[in-house]
Amino acid sequence: MCGIVAYVGPKDAAPILLEGLQRLEYRGYDSAGVVVSNKGLKVRKVKGRVADLAAAVPARFKGTLGIGHTRWATHGAPSDVNAHPHLSSDGRIAVVHNGIIENADELRAKLEADGVVFSSETDTEVLAHLIARTAGETDSLEEAVRAALKRVVGTYGIAVVDAGRPGEVVVARNGSPIVLGIGEKEMFAASDVAALVRYTRQVVHLEDGELAVLKADGFRTFAGDARPTAKEPLTVDWDAGHYDTGGYEHYLLKEISEQPDTVARTLRGRLDDRFHIAHLGGLNMDARETRSFRRVKIIGCGSAYYSGQIGAQLIEELARIPADAEPASEFRYRGPVVEPDTLYVAISQSGETYDTLAAVQELKRKGGRVLGIVNTVGSAIARECDGGLYLHAGPEVSVASTKAFTSTAVAFALLALHLGRVRDLSPAEGRRICQGLRALPGQIKEILALEPQIKELAHKYAGSPSMMFVGRVRGYPVAREGAQKLKEISYVHAEAYPASELKHGPLALIGPEMPTVAIVPDDELLDKNLTTLGEIRARGGRVLMIGHRAADPRLADDHVVVPKNETELDPILLTIPLQLFAYHAAVALGRDVDKPRNLAKSVTVE
Ligand code: F6R
Repeated sequence: MCGIVAYVGPKDAAPILLEGLQRLEYRGYDSAGVVVSNKGLKVRKVKGRVADLAAAVPARFKGTLGIGHTRWATHGAPSDVNAHPHLSSDGRIAVVHNGIIENADELRAKLEADGVVFSSETDTEVLAHLIARTAGETDSLEEAVRAALKRVVGTYGIAVVDAGRPGEVVVARNGSPIVLGIGEKEMFAASDVAALVRYTRQVVHLEDGELAVLKADGFRTFAGDARPTAKEPLTVDWDAGHYDTGGYEHYLLKEISEQPDTVARTLRGRLDDRFHIAHLGGLNMDARETRSFRRVKIIGCGSAYYSGQIGAQLIEELARIPADAEPASEFRYRGPVVEPDTLYVAISQSGETYDTLAAVQELKRKGGRVLGIVNTVGSAIARECDGGLYLHAGPEVSVASTKAFTSTAVAFALLALHLGRVRDLSPAEGRRICQGLRALPGQIKEILALEPQIKELAHKYAGSPSMMFVGRVRGYPVAREGAQKLKEISYVHAEAYPASELKHGPLALIGPEMPTVAIVPDDELLDKNLTTLGEIRARGGRVLMIGHRAADPRLADDHVVVPKNETELDPILLTIPLQLFAYHAAVALGRDVDKPRNLAKSVTVE
């Protein structure tokens, strides 16, 4: 997805902007550009990587204020011309923009009828011309920006500079994140804290509808109606080191390998040995209120949704409250019935996924009580929710989610334990779950030690045109996540089905060409799962079994044996071999593991 960086201060802006853009590369993009202000605007923009842009920036590209952008094409193909920044015809205003201007065609037609000549196919260029029209007449750039934004329908995070006002940058947000970074006599802004942490840990998140004016000596923020707003800076506890590969070949492998620590951080300080309950102060609910819910509805997108399915199962089992998960992208469009005695839980690693944010806003509009399970502190979804749990997993850079997935499942185990213990879950059962949770980091280390074996298996199966993933009940979301990981980073087609559903249709696909990865935990469904393996083998299908015991060679060609935890918590551990399997399959196939084609790290557009 697109990225924005802005700087104003005493230093040379271009190196700071380029560094910031590099930090945003992980989000996915196709072109990049920068503008600096120094007796007029100097612009460079290219189709390609930030390194290509850096090579195109001449030594004389000086200026102590500027904005930069990485573009992910929506209106018009990736090209030098369509790359941001976009300038007004007189070259006075430059704009970078994330999001989509929905009425761009209509505005463009009006501007063209007035004689404005466009140089790109983008929706963003409309903004540059609209701002330029009033910039000369208004007292301030912010007024000109505000006037232009009044005419715009759609989502945006923008940064704007005006050659006529060389000491300030104006940024605004509506549906697409903008974070301000506060430095020593310098100010930064970006669409993601990743671009800021090298320079400052003091940040301010803009709310939808807000606009900010940045000068070297500080910032002012305004609501949409021009009223000044008061903002408290937040301290980010992520530093630049979190964004390095740390000696690993890929961020993805680094993030998979970090899971013993990230899971431990999600648990830290939250388990109570006296009452065998989870302490979750961020829920902002007392015990009476916590008891009052009769249902739990979980929403999230993609892998976040699959981790929500694990969460629903945990809540039903431990708290005996009916719970289910649904894609947030679907939920908000089906006119959901919002009930006062339902607890809604939104999941997001980035905290910025537009579909999830919009679903939370819809719930809030209808009076729903929404908790957030979010990784990014201070993100839009976290701010919108009534309470929740932070994952504390550290920034996830690789596009495919791994450590956030397991930490989310762990957060759900904590929530389920908490909901269970204020209801009918006995202290003994609570103790059993607490002990299981404590064992997770060590057991994850044991699974990571299986990497050489899993790598070999990934090489063996990576050449298959298609793979089936199956699991029953607790194993089904694990299978879905396994298929998701494989398809998104290796581009091998993968389907996930409940094992129980195979013979109702997809068994027709099974044969030597389509191997199956079967999630077979040692639980009450073991025999049923083994029967399914027999059915697959009888059709000539190859089977890789992921479970707690070595496979009978009549039922599976290969197996990965993971340590056993409590039955309810086993899905968390069973996911990890599938992450390693997908990673090594993708590497074997020569894929761009951290930045798979067509995907972006946080999907801030609809
Ligand atoms: C898959 C993946 C995506 C995200 C989804 C939601 O590996 O990463 O499916 O899980 O886009 O993102 P967040 O959690 O940031 O809301």
